[in-house]
Amino acid sequence: MKLLLVAGARPNFMKIAPIVRALRNRPLPILWKLVHTGQHYDYDMSGSFFNELEIPDPDYHLEAGSGTHAQQTAKIMVEFEKVCVAEAPDVVVVVGDVNSTLACSITAKKMGIKVSHVEAGLRSGDWAMPEEVNRVVTDSISDHLFVTEKSGRENLLQEGKRRESIYFVGHVMVDNLLYVKNGLDGEKLEDSETGKLKKSLGEYAFLTLHRPSNVDEPKTFSDIICALNEISRELPIVFPVHPRTRRQLDQNGFGLSNSILLLSPLSFKESLHLWKDAVFVLTDSGGLQEETTALGVPCFTIRENTERPVTIEEGTNTLVGSSSSGILSAYRDFRSGKAKKGRVPELWDGHAADRIVDILSERFP
Ligand code: UD1
Repeated sequence: MKLLLVAGARPNFMKIAPIVRALRNRPLPILWKLVHTGQHYDYDMSGSFFNELEIPDPDYHLEAGSGTHAQQTAKIMVEFEKVCVAEAPDVVVVVGDVNSTLACSITAKKMGIKVSHVEAGLRSGDWAMPEEVNRVVTDSISDHLFVTEKSGRENLLQEGKRRESIYFVGHVMVDNLLYVKNGLDGEKLEDSETGKLKKSLGEYAFLTLHRPSNVDEPKTFSDIICALNEISRELPIVFPVHPRTRRQLDQNGFGLSNSILLLSPLSFKESLHLWKDAVFVLTDSGGLQEETTALGVPCFTIRENTERPVTIEEGTNTLVGSSSSGILSAYRDFRSGKAKKGRVPELWDGHAADRIVDILSERFP
């Protein structure tokens, strides 16, 4: 069996790292190569994750860069096709729901190569999200569908996928989180910039925000900022800023409170070091909704919907919407003691990548 693993944008790197580790730990070697599409390219959006998460240098770098959805997707497809011709893999493994996931799955499928989708079956029902299109299209052509939660299996069955092609394996992103967290305890992050910040603040909230639906529309973004300013009167908010969000902040001159502390995008370890001990997390990220549930940290998701319902039904996540009133009412409830307890979802145990590699090895002996 020969695998091509695809990673392209920041949230992919945490999902590829444990798969690489599982492949390296096999008693019998499996042939695999790693492709970086270059969808994300800045050191703090890509390189720092490769270094910290022990991902080897990619065998191929497609240097796709930014652009419109069509430009980015098309460029990845053209370049990835060349890699598939050169390598003739049995299986292309794609993760998550970014444009790289979509582009490489379509390319492989049209060349008669099997496609494995890790984190399959999630559905927000929100077609305004580019990720929803990516998820539905990728799943519709994938041969192996690895799901992280039971809703994923139900969604896929409802869409007519064959039961035998769906595997409930848990979550590779949780594998990565637990692995890094264990190592973190022995590191001297107290002396780092984020460590000093953490010490000086004592209590704080942690915020990430980058969804186009929240930050590209100034009225929505300014309403969210109203709520954040209000919260920051009682609790400082640490806010590592995504490049998309930074551009909007620079262009619009929203009046942000001084108690909202803007940082550059953080490495995985620095980010984890901060959010794991935050009073709560505010986010519109898919990954953080799940990671906070995995560690039992309260999370308020600034969105109207989520494709990850287990984080609400079993975990510590609460959907608060994108309006100032929704965010503030959830905050007030939390402060008055109505915090969710939450439990860790089934199979979020750190072994999802091993299960995936076992299944692929059985299919392609
Ligand atoms: C992408 C994913 C989204 C994921 C997010 C995580 C899609 C459709 N979206 O959104 O699912 O949650 O990544 O970050 O695939 N930029 C830089 N440096 C970089 C990369 C991007 O400055 O290394 C800037 C560029 O100006 C670019 C903008 O950020 O135009 C947005 O990047 P892009 O990859 O298009 O989308 P994201 O918002 O990052």
